[in-house]
Amino acid sequence: MFRCIFSEGQKYKNLLNGQWVTSRSGKRDKIFSPTDGSLVGEVPAMSQEEADEFLKCSAAAQKSWAAVPVSERAAVLHKAAEILVREKDAIADVLMREIAKNKKSSLSEVTRTADLIHFTAEEGKRVTGESLSSGAFPGFHETKLSIVNRVPLGVVLAIAPFNYPINLAASKITPALVAGNSVVFKPPTQGAISALYLARVFCEAGLPAGVLNVITGQGRAIGDYLVSHPLVNMVAFTGSSKVGKHIASLVGMKPLLLELGGKDAAIVLEDADLSLAAQHIVGGAFSFSGQRCTAVKRILVLESVADKLIEKILPLVQKLSVGLPEDDADITPLISKEAADFVQELIDDAVQKGAKLLTGNKREKNIIFPTLFDRVTVDMRIAWEEPFGPVLPILRVKTIDEAIKITNDSEYGLQASVFTKSMDEAFRVAARLEVGTIQVNGKTERGPDHFPFIGVKSSGMGTQGIRYSIEAMTRCKAIVLNFN
Ligand code: NAP
Ligand code: G3H
Repeated sequence: MFRCIFSEGQKYKNLLNGQWVTSRSGKRDKIFSPTDGSLVGEVPAMSQEEADEFLKCSAAAQKSWAAVPVSERAAVLHKAAEILVREKDAIADVLMREIAKNKKSSLSEVTRTADLIHFTAEEGKRVTGESLSSGAFPGFHETKLSIVNRVPLGVVLAIAPFNYPINLAASKITPALVAGNSVVFKPPTQGAISALYLARVFCEAGLPAGVLNVITGQGRAIGDYLVSHPLVNMVAFTGSSKVGKHIASLVGMKPLLLELGGKDAAIVLEDADLSLAAQHIVGGAFSFSGQRCTAVKRILVLESVADKLIEKILPLVQKLSVGLPEDDADITPLISKEAADFVQELIDDAVQKGAKLLTGNKREKNIIFPTLFDRVTVDMRIAWEEPFGPVLPILRVKTIDEAIKITNDSEYGLQASVFTKSMDEAFRVAARLEVGTIQVNGKTERGPDHFPFIGVKSSGMGTQGIRYSIEAMTRCKAIVLNFN
């Protein structure tokens, strides 16, 4: 069905100038299933010299792509979205094997991405500039007109994390492309095969050769070289705060979009609808086994309603199924043994410092059973660190001020939730929280994908979200008409 060659057996290839190529050195990274350790496939580990070749190709292709009318660029994207939907089962199968995301969430990642691509294609057509007349400025007559257009930046380097290798890749690739940029895409190594499927879909949709090139290889081996490469005009990165900060120290004078880690708090006030809060908190904390930047990662509840909230939360946590992605279990194996070890370390620290275990603290290989702690205190690591796993701490607070203080004392500033029936109180609390987005009576989450997605402090820089991403991947260019 696909005209591009993509893999030979389990050996996958990179996309360069419309061709499927492997590393000349023959070096490869092996990708193993987080579920059973079986080999999912091998991807090329590209060298710096090969990266130069990919980037030169992208820079050359960008000029002609920018000259294609935006309606035609959008048409290619619409076609890609249609192919994604047609291929959703095959792609979801790869996601299940490669990152152990359950079936429902894998399918929804693919269909959500198709929706994102359609929406971006249409939004790209609506990018407009403006004109400014000189007469508005003191001392000037109507003798000048500045015509301000938005133009592409050039070559965008898109780097995605393991937890959404399709969606968080497309959320960078698509706005870049519709705006007339070319893209060099560095997928997460664990997630690279899923990401290569996405590249294959763009290829099949008729994207001209060279406009999208894919470079696989370990971030720690090739990443620094790519982000600081002179042919890269912009970096769009989603991943950990540690790597994001490292990238920021390297890129120099290039626009940079960073979406990083989080420690999102759910603040539950005395007048909250506790059943609603419990539903949102458990859904928000445990989907994809807590491996989401926006997962609810701590509950700050007013002491007077803490017991009642726990009565509602605990049975929901105990009801979560644990098992295999293909059986659609709620809790599936974490991405790696190291990831599960880290979560266990945080659990052990909380137990040792006297947190009250309500359920969980059980492990089978990479599976961490859903874990809920009460009476977590601020000296425990779990109060501050991002576990990226299914463990949820409850901190009881005496006042709203204390909840706000603990939220703001975090190094992170992605999102927070406030549960209350009082809109006045919700707005008062929201105004004081140092995060990108506050969800009132709802779980923390990124979507829908046209909403602005904002991280402050160690959670990021710049704004993602369809129109916002297009803006971030274009710049103003002005032509001034002088009427002499
Ligand atoms: P990660 O380890 O930071 O990796 C993210 C990406 O960066 C991967 O493609 C990785 O490649 C690459 N990379 C690693 N070192 C690099 C370097 N020196 N230069 C350039 N690229 C480099 O993050 P992850 O484990 O995949 O994802 C989990 C983290 O991402 C969590 O902290 C989570 O909160 C955060 N996250 C944030 C958002 C958000 O939108 N705010 C969304 C999703 C995830 P390799 O895979 O080859 O190492
Ligand atoms: O992991 C970080 C993602 O940006 C979270 O997206 O809230 O749609 O799961 P999500």
